[in-house]
Amino acid sequence: MDNINWGALPFAYFKTDYNVRCYYRDGKWGDLEVSDSEYINLHMAATCLHYGQEAFEGLKAFRGKDDKIRLFRWDENALRMQSSARGVLMAEPPIELFRDAVFTAVKLNSKYVPPYGSGASLYIRPLLIGSGPQVGVKPATEYLFMVFVGPVGPYFKEGFNPVKMQIARDYDRAAPLGTGHYKVGGNYAASLAAGQRAHAEGYASALFLDARDKKYIDEAGPANFFGIKGNLYVTPASASILPSITNKSLMTLAQDLGMTVERRHITVEELEDFEEVGACGTAAVISPICEIHDRETGRKFSYCSPKGAGPVSTRLYRKLQAIQMGDEPDIHQWVTILEE
Ligand code: PLP
Ligand code: COI
Repeated sequence: MDNINWGALPFAYFKTDYNVRCYYRDGKWGDLEVSDSEYINLHMAATCLHYGQEAFEGLKAFRGKDDKIRLFRWDENALRMQSSARGVLMAEPPIELFRDAVFTAVKLNSKYVPPYGSGASLYIRPLLIGSGPQVGVKPATEYLFMVFVGPVGPYFKEGFNPVKMQIARDYDRAAPLGTGHYKVGGNYAASLAAGQRAHAEGYASALFLDARDKKYIDEAGPANFFGIKGNLYVTPASASILPSITNKSLMTLAQDLGMTVERRHITVEELEDFEEVGACGTAAVISPICEIHDRETGRKFSYCSPKGAGPVSTRLYRKLQAIQMGDEPDIHQWVTILEE
């Protein structure tokens, strides 16, 4: 793939050669199908179009120094997709189906896995939709599970450079007993307006507070939030945020480094006490945050210099990436090497 400038890739859709699909019909999953079309043929009354029966996942494959392709914690994504499916009453793709679909999609597009050292990776997007027709508000009886892949660069254009975020008190991403902990499209629809305004006003993302009390940090746009204070790694405990696999991994790595990890409410006031704060997720890995602006109150919280991330965030970021790329021993068995 000599014609791809790997180092300059944005986080965006990139057409590759093949994708895979599997239908759930008559109460059972069919065979995995390989397609070279970017399109699907969909019934106009499909429940995904009307009642939001949709869930997706996002995970990455990396090429190591040894040229092998490594998948990071795909089994966690499989379990989370099952949880999202249960959350909006869709048929759950079995773990083996998820695995076969992801492995097949990556292998068939292996030439698009960016080379070691390029800073890019192969983003894998599994998705599940209610494809059967309904007009009454009820779940479909037919589902379509698909996986497409594409090489990507950093999610925020800043890469690992710190970003500014804006607290949006006049929008809620998810309700306390709603769907915030599932990776379903509706949550992203609910976040679009606040996100677009944040961009227009010069911020990388909106920071959402808990919808009930408007006191606690909930979700950092499309990522989890964490704060560092001395030897402490703190991240919100909330029923309305997505259980991030990156955050889960960072918590383990922080403990490995001898840090104390706390999952609890983080008040807006506490933002003052942190030495470093950041957003974490598959796409961004870690996005250090240099400034949080509370749009309504005008309050500003400043962290590291805009030129660089703090030392703990940098250490965690490097450690996680080293494991993903195969540069450090995979002591937690997070990585699956794909035999090509
Ligand atoms: N929070 C939201 C709303 C997300 O969309 C994502 C992305 O998947 C995350 C957090 C981070 O989760 P993960 O680390 O599993 O990618
Ligand atoms: C993530 O991977 O952290 C994301 O939020 C991905 C985004 C494109 C939904």
